[in-house]
Amino acid sequence: MNYPEFTSEHKSLMSKHLSKEIFDKLKTKQTSNNYTLQMAINSGLKNPDSGIGIYAGDKESYELYQDLFDPIIKEYHNFNTNDKHQSNLNVNDLKAPLLKDADDFIISTRIRVGRNLDQMPLGPSISDKQRNEIENIVSSSLNKLEGDLKGKYFSLNNLSKEDRDSLIKDHFLFKEGDRFLEAASLNNSWPENRGIFHNVNKTFLVWINEEDQLRIISMQKGGDIKEVFERLINAIKFLEKSMSFSFSSHLGYITSCPTNLGTAMRASVHIKLPKLANDMNKFENICDKYFLQIRGINGEHSESEGGIYDISNKRRLGVSEVQCVQDMYDGVKALIEVEKSL
Ligand code: ARG
Repeated sequence: MNYPEFTSEHKSLMSKHLSKEIFDKLKTKQTSNNYTLQMAINSGLKNPDSGIGIYAGDKESYELYQDLFDPIIKEYHNFNTNDKHQSNLNVNDLKAPLLKDADDFIISTRIRVGRNLDQMPLGPSISDKQRNEIENIVSSSLNKLEGDLKGKYFSLNNLSKEDRDSLIKDHFLFKEGDRFLEAASLNNSWPENRGIFHNVNKTFLVWINEEDQLRIISMQKGGDIKEVFERLINAIKFLEKSMSFSFSSHLGYITSCPTNLGTAMRASVHIKLPKLANDMNKFENICDKYFLQIRGINGEHSESEGGIYDISNKRRLGVSEVQCVQDMYDGVKALIEVEKSL
């Protein structure tokens, strides 16, 4: 492969940081799972509008292709090569009393983490057989849950098109045909060995073999952020009894996309802020102050509808899980106060 010709269309951090020199140094390497630089950057090359444009095929990718990953991680997370990541999953450290009037503004709350199995390569370089093994390991563990987390695993193959569409529309299930994942080989053999587990109330869900091997999700209507966090932690602790997740003291939980490293956590609310929506400058300033990101409500790369926004933590690596949720809680509290004053 020759050095790619980047044009002004290429917006990704990968295209910004992949110099000819780094390319030449890394282009002939491969990890023990045969993951090459070319595979890692394919999504960003095929999708010039990528923000990041690179995926890891295994934990080793982050070391072997460090000359490229490190500047990307530094720019995205403000995190240096020698920094350490600290995890904190202690719910009692979160200061999040139920907000007054929360339910007038917050439509729903959702917190997810990504996880990958320690003994497996990451999604972009797993084989069909390994994907099948992962589905078995994770779904059989989930099927042993009792109490309010008890539920059922549905493989995508066994869901009708209508059920799939309705789960997507209600924000329970991942979308299909993501071109970024496609070019990263994350949709290989789709939809085999992909699926979703959920409890009866759909307040606890696990996606299997999407961008990460597990996306563990806790969500519910309204704004009780602490309750959502607590349910997530209980589920993580349960799963950890029967599997171990890929983790490093430097990068935290290992995920296929470098944006998710560290806590792999996105803590979000769907929140109605029609007045602030008329003053995007002010809205964005508050979000910046609390390290929050604004998205539309139909997932990543979507627009807002009816003054409803998806607000989530931006920091993920080098801060703890408790801090991620705290950022979101503090920011949402501030947003509601300003909205009420307008
Ligand atoms: N690969 C896409 C890009 O570079 C998505 C990056 C972040 N999102 C994600 N789902 N990992 O723009």
